[in-house]
Amino acid sequence: MPHILVTGGTGYIGSHTVVELLTANYTVTIVDNLSRSSANVLTSIHTITGKTPHFVQLDLCDATAVKLFFDTNNSFDAIIHFAAYKAVGESVQEPLLYYHNNVVSIINLLQNALAHDITNVVFSSSCTVYGQSTALPVTELTPRLAAESPYGNTKQMCEDILYDTVQATALQCVSLRYFNPIGAHPSALMGELPLGVPNNLVPFITQTAIGKRAQLSIFGNDYNTIDGTCVRDYIHVMDLAQAHLKAVQLLLTTTQTHYYEIINIGTGVGSSVLQAVQAFEKVTGQTLNYQYAPRRNGDVEAMYANVDKASQLLQWKATYTLKDALLHQWQWEQALHAQE
Ligand code: UFG
Repeated sequence: MPHILVTGGTGYIGSHTVVELLTANYTVTIVDNLSRSSANVLTSIHTITGKTPHFVQLDLCDATAVKLFFDTNNSFDAIIHFAAYKAVGESVQEPLLYYHNNVVSIINLLQNALAHDITNVVFSSSCTVYGQSTALPVTELTPRLAAESPYGNTKQMCEDILYDTVQATALQCVSLRYFNPIGAHPSALMGELPLGVPNNLVPFITQTAIGKRAQLSIFGNDYNTIDGTCVRDYIHVMDLAQAHLKAVQLLLTTTQTHYYEIINIGTGVGSSVLQAVQAFEKVTGQTLNYQYAPRRNGDVEAMYANVDKASQLLQWKATYTLKDALLHQWQWEQALHAQE
């Protein structure tokens, strides 16, 4: 079976993807510097799959270490590149940290991969590259607008680096533009481990419901949407993981030269913040303490995907509902709480 290198494989989306790869009998090697994740997730991966992926602690920004790694580990059929920082607000405070970490790492990775004739890469991109787009739903042909944050800019830059490298080398690449990843493994053995106070909606909801936060603020109720709150396309992390599997399969069966595809990964359905809150209350039976607060800087009013390309090219579509994702994330929050 193909051997897949997963960078950032102990992180949120990475770990769920590793579970799907192992379940499909792929051989997996994870590299991660563990700066924003824990090696404990390897135990959960083993419990769920009965398999342990090969793990190497590696900082992709350390060029010498990356070369050494590839000089001794180079039997990969494809790479899924998750490793990156992803907090929008932090990227505004610490732009150099973000440009250095997210851009230097992909350059080191590609240089060493190509030196060993590893030519298939799936890249974690984001709908943030569309900026404040008003053309909804966004398709892959919707023009990218100026990035709203250094984080968003790193995603645009990495997409460009990949595109240019594909034109000049044997590299084949699929960039998956994720919409809003939420949810957890249905076993409640694995999920996101937010650092500090969560910025994202769903971890804030579950932490409020469990009593870690006093109240959820809904940022803005005067947008031009169904109920005045922002609209997003929430995608279950297990569906996202499946999309990576399909993208790897696509690359492994493609022989076209200069092959570069961008694919939106969402449900195609927009849900408002208020609808998400109400769905959470309904599916969990919890009453959430929330209030309306002023708009948050940099938020787009509405964002959801056209997912036709994912369906045609990957034969993939989302299978979990918003309620499934909220329930799984709630069960994960409860499991975390039980460990404390
Ligand atoms: N929200 C609240 N209260 C909160 C947190 C969020 O009302 O406490 C609202 C936001 O204002 C927004 C919606 O919930 O309307 C979703 O916010 P998130 O922070 O969960 O997600 P974003 O859409 O802002 O960000 C996501 C990804 C980013 C990516 C961005 C691209 O997390 O990585 O989409 O638009 F860059």
